[in-house]
Amino acid sequence: MDEVSEVKERLEVAEVVGGYVQLKQAGRNLKAPCPFHNEKTASFMVSPEKGIWHCFGCGAGGDILSFVMMMEGCEFKEALELLARRAGVELKTKADGGERAKARQRLQDAHDWAVKYFQTCLVKNPAALSYVVKRRGLKRSTIQDFGIGYAPESWDGLVKFLRKKGFSEDELVKAGLAVRKRSGTGVFDMFRGRIMFAICDRAGRPVGFTGRVLDDAADTGPKYLNTPQTVLYDKSQAIFGLHLAKEAIRAGDEAVLVEGNMDVVASHQAGVRNVVAASGTALTIDQLKTLSKFSRNIKIAFDQDSAGLQASARAIEMAQKLGLNLHIIEVGAKDPDELIQKGVGRWQAAIKNSRDVFSYWFARSERELNLSEPVGKRQFSDRITGLIQMLADPIEKESYMKMLADKISISLEAVKQKVEQSPAPTQTPLKKPEPPPAPAPKSFSPTQLIEASVLAINLVYPECRLSLDDLGAGDFQKEEYRAILAALKRHKQADIKQLLELLPAYGNDVKILALRGEEEFSYLAPADRSFEAFRLGRRLQTLTQHQSQAQISQRLRAAESSGDTALARSLLAQYQALIKQDE
Ligand code: UTP
Ligand code: MN
Repeated sequence: MDEVSEVKERLEVAEVVGGYVQLKQAGRNLKAPCPFHNEKTASFMVSPEKGIWHCFGCGAGGDILSFVMMMEGCEFKEALELLARRAGVELKTKADGGERAKARQRLQDAHDWAVKYFQTCLVKNPAALSYVVKRRGLKRSTIQDFGIGYAPESWDGLVKFLRKKGFSEDELVKAGLAVRKRSGTGVFDMFRGRIMFAICDRAGRPVGFTGRVLDDAADTGPKYLNTPQTVLYDKSQAIFGLHLAKEAIRAGDEAVLVEGNMDVVASHQAGVRNVVAASGTALTIDQLKTLSKFSRNIKIAFDQDSAGLQASARAIEMAQKLGLNLHIIEVGAKDPDELIQKGVGRWQAAIKNSRDVFSYWFARSERELNLSEPVGKRQFSDRITGLIQMLADPIEKESYMKMLADKISISLEAVKQKVEQSPAPTQTPLKKPEPPPAPAPKSFSPTQLIEASVLAINLVYPECRLSLDDLGAGDFQKEEYRAILAALKRHKQADIKQLLELLPAYGNDVKILALRGEEEFSYLAPADRSFEAFRLGRRLQTLTQHQSQAQISQRLRAAESSGDTALARSLLAQYQALIKQDE
């Protein structure tokens, strides 16, 4: 058995899907509102027997792998890795016989142990515990969820602990948990005397840490120390808190991006869970790309000091490139953490009152500058033209130029001149926004819906298959459907199991259609089913005929106007034949 089928074999579809969506039993199947499109009724269905899921509303469907891909917004390989881990299946990369995966797993295990170690140390250290619980007001559950702990003031506490668990010095250095001594022999702990926060991957496994000094006044290095770049931890990719926030981000179709780790922790503890941070780095385009797979509406709450402003400007530019909808949150306190301590309602209001980048900058600059004076006007226009230059769309650009011109009572020409003259704020000129990385599932068109129903009823009820005699490949748009049609016509008695063997490449489609067939037509009496199958077949034919009529008449008109009489004559004949069929 290959790896993919082994993974699929070992995992229950209901369990995998149920990890993301609350499923309710409905006969032999399970139901829920579809996680991929907005709906109130539950048309999303999971079939444990067939090992598939399908939404009757938007038409999305497939197996556990496609589900994880859509849900996590990831590629096939990532989904397979994620599920393989859950299934306990070891994936062999052909090149190294799985050695790399094994080494990686070891580092992963070291991190799991490190979290446990830091947590034990936290409980044992009164000063650290008091800081976390009393000073920062963190609850037990928050400490658990975020893997918060304490790295004691020791040179080799973690090293000794992990060496006893069987990890080599080399592995600890590779994991970013230890540092090699200058002398070259021996290693010591990377993190000492710090409150530790686990940085997790999307599946929630710790891949790195960020450690905060306990005493702000003491001169013990940077306030926050992060795991260096390792095989597991890539700081340009990691997003702090995403594993805990992704459901809320998707559900509310909005992600809130803050600057500090503590802001994320405090917000989640207060029940606002769609919040993440780009920990330890300035926000990168990869991080924004990852976030945009969960929602394209991003709200940022960066400090309003100059560093924060610069960060916002970078975010604005990257969001433009990705075509994201970016809003700015005015926090009105030192940071979200501080605001939340005053009452989570204030934080919620700040998020709600966020504004798109332009309104934010218009309002803020108007407040800060004196627009009745030429100098104020220039400063105002400096700020706004800077933003306008980041825009790709000419219409949008011109609209904002008009707004700017109106605001400072200047001609549009003057503004245009300024936008063209002043150097763009960054080197990279903006290209057109990239298309969305993970497009929403396409809804079925009415024709596709009938195509599916025709195949579904014939698949589940072989006695209906005579109704297929009048249909041909031309009546079906999808290649998968054409293959299934051919098999059904050729094998009038085959049951679903046999059809699955006949069509190994189209297993998921056969199963989804079977699920549709059972759900849609089982309530009909057997005699009515054949009748329904003929009715559906006829309906599909009519639809296809009308479509080809429309196509031919369009080509006919083109041929006539270009004077191609031979082509026009032949098209006319085709058209008349079609109409005759229709009668
Ligand atoms: P802040 O200094 O605003 O910290 O840095 P904070 O998160 O509000 O923490 P508290 O409330 O003082 O405990 C914001 C973020 O910048 C990164 C960290 O990710 C931090 O959360 N940072 C800051 C570093 O990576 N290194 C530093 O030395 C300081
Ligand atoms: Mn803070």
